[in-house]
Amino acid sequence: MGTPTAPAPGPSAVATHLVGLRVRDVRTYVEADVELGPGLTVVAGPNGAGKTNLLEAAYLACTGRSFRQAADADLVRRGAEVGHAAATVMAPSGPSVFSVGIDPAAPRGRRLRVDGSPVETLLDHPARPRMSVFLPDRMVLVKGGPALRRAHLDQLLAVLRPASMPVRRAFHEALRQRNALLSSLRARGADAERARGELAPWDRTLAEAAAGLTVARRETAEAIRPAVNERAVQLGLSGELEISYRPRADEDPDVVLAALQERHAGDLERGFTHHGPHRDDLAVRRDGRLITRFGSQGEQRLSLLALLLGEADVMEDASGSRPVLLLDDVMSELDADRRERLVGLISERGQALVTVTEAGHVPGADDPVVGRIDVTPGSAVASALASGGRAGSA
Ligand SMILES: Nc1ncnc2c1ncn2[C@@H]1O[C@H](COP(=O)(O)OP(=O)(O)OP(=O)(O)O)[C@@H](O)[C@H]1O
Ligand SMILES: [Mg+2]
Repeated sequence: MGTPTAPAPGPSAVATHLVGLRVRDVRTYVEADVELGPGLTVVAGPNGAGKTNLLEAAYLACTGRSFRQAADADLVRRGAEVGHAAATVMAPSGPSVFSVGIDPAAPRGRRLRVDGSPVETLLDHPARPRMSVFLPDRMVLVKGGPALRRAHLDQLLAVLRPASMPVRRAFHEALRQRNALLSSLRARGADAERARGELAPWDRTLAEAAAGLTVARRETAEAIRPAVNERAVQLGLSGELEISYRPRADEDPDVVLAALQERHAGDLERGFTHHGPHRDDLAVRRDGRLITRFGSQGEQRLSLLALLLGEADVMEDASGSRPVLLLDDVMSELDADRRERLVGLISERGQALVTVTEAGHVPGADDPVVGRIDVTPGSAVASALASGGRAGSA
């Protein structure tokens, strides 16, 4: 992640996408072999049929990981001993097959391969498609507490500001050490004078890293803001969507240092550091009001979509490769107009797999450019192949 990838595809190049997926004994699947087109594919089937499982298998084959943090034993179909998922990927450099073999009883864990050769990780392979995933669970990103948004911001930071990763690690390490010292000082009943002396070196280290992390997070939030805003408008979210970083610490290490020193007594009393970027938030506001508190269900969903699509745009600009969109159950709670806008947007973006219980929930699902996979318990069958997005997509 974050390492330089192939140059941006030119107008004639085909963006990296999956052309086929082969699944054996993963989740509900006994076996599924589907072909995939480069544009929008609708994955339709009743509740519990295995639609989310199919998206998960695609993600698994290309990354070696589940997007649900599942244990190996959960991924392998109940009653089977081993599971396997393979994706044939078409990249500008040519086709490759990414695969993962899962054997919960094996001591060495998942077996990852590219074109049949074992690899340690699939993540840094140049032909691997990047994937942007929308899962209903991710609504906690707009509905839930700041910890998830901080983690999300740091994931973006890893992609967009890879050079700042050492400062992030340094911050967490210094925070851990300082907290350990605080709890030890507290346990020893140390007085203020002694605490000041022992904390001094950690205050300085922590202040430097905190200021650096604050700058990197602010830059990351600023980098995505215009794209997220634009996507929100296109999705028909009324009012202005604003993403803003809410830092707790200053960008000047001396100011952070002073703030840490000022709080020695309180930190000592609690036994941990309460000032710093470990308490930051990323605020998502619509017309000045926090979407977390004031947004309707549909507005929160549109905000999350705008966030994910906007980020995908920025990552595409940064890496030169267009992420494949895996959108699970994205249509529910959206009205007809918003569904239409969303479908328009994603079909312009390249490959997207969208799950729905009824194909009719995707406006234009019958359009010949749109592919279709019908999922029934145990298998998935492609009944139409996406022929590639609309005008402008490569
Ligand atoms: N390892 C496994 N072996 C067999 N079945 C499994 C396994 N893991 C999950 N399942 C089953 O998969 C089904 C859920 O599949 P999935 O989440 O893909 O459904 P879905 O089509 O997305 O449904 P919905 O429309 O409700 O979202 C559940 O019935 C669950 O019991
Ligand atoms: Mg599902």
